Amino acid sequence: MKYIIANWKANSTYQDINVWMDEFSNNDFTSVHDVEIILCPPFPFLTQVKEYVDDMPFVKIGSQDISQFSEGAYTGEITASMLQKIIDYAIIGHSERRSHFNETNELLEIKSQQAIQHDIKPILCVRNTMDLIPHNVNIVAYEPVESIGTGNNQSVEMVISVKHSLNIPPGTLFIYGGSVDETNAALYLNNSEIDGVLVGSASLDPKKFYDIIRAVNS
Ligand code: PGA
Repeated sequence: MKYIIANWKANSTYQDINVWMDEFSNNDFTSVHDVEIILCPPFPFLTQVKEYVDDMPFVKIGSQDISQFSEGAYTGEITASMLQKIIDYAIIGHSERRSHFNETNELLEIKSQQAIQHDIKPILCVRNTMDLIPHNVNIVAYEPVESIGTGNNQSVEMVISVKHSLNIPPGTLFIYGGSVDETNAALYLNNSEIDGVLVGSASLDPKKFYDIIRAVNS
C-alpha cells in the first residue's frame, strides 16, 4: 500500500474546495490499486470534503493539526474528540507548526497521544534525526525544511539514508515530503523503502495531484 497525502495548509476557500473536489472525483480511479489517498484540508472544510469522498473507500480525511487538550475552556481549540469519526489521520508536528507556533517534541508527544486515544492515526512530521518520534506513532513523515516549498526535493538516496538514521521501529510507515510533484513522485512512490508522499503545493492542483496518484506502479 502506498499513501499519498495532500496537505493544503492555510489555502482554499469554501468555493475552491467544491471546484477541487468536483474535478478530483471525476477522475478515473479504476486502475489505481493499493493506494490510500489522505486529503488534509483546513479544519472548516473537513466535513465538506468528507461528504465528497464517502463513496470513495480509498480516500481518507486528515486534519493538519490537533489540540493538545481533550476538552474544556480552551477557546478556539479543535480537539481529538471533536474530530473522531470525521477524520482517520492527523498531521502532527509539521515544521511550519514547529517554527511558527513553537511546537516542541514534548507538546507533539501529547498531541500524538490525544490522536491515538481517539482512534486517529498521527502522521508525525520530522525535519531531521533530532526530532523525537513519540511511542505508538506508526507513521513518520520525513520533511527536510530546505525541501519544503522550494522545488528542491531531496534525492531518494538521501531520504533512505535519513530513514535508516531515524531508527524507526519495524512496521512504521515512512513517508517523504518536500517539493514532491507530478514530475518526481514516481521516484519515491516506486521505491520499496518509502511508503508514500506528503504533498503540499502540488496538491492544490487536482490535475497534478491525480498525476501523482497515477505515478504509483508507473
Ligand atoms: P511542498 O510542501 O510539497 O509544497 O514542498 C510539503 C509539506 O510542507 O508538507
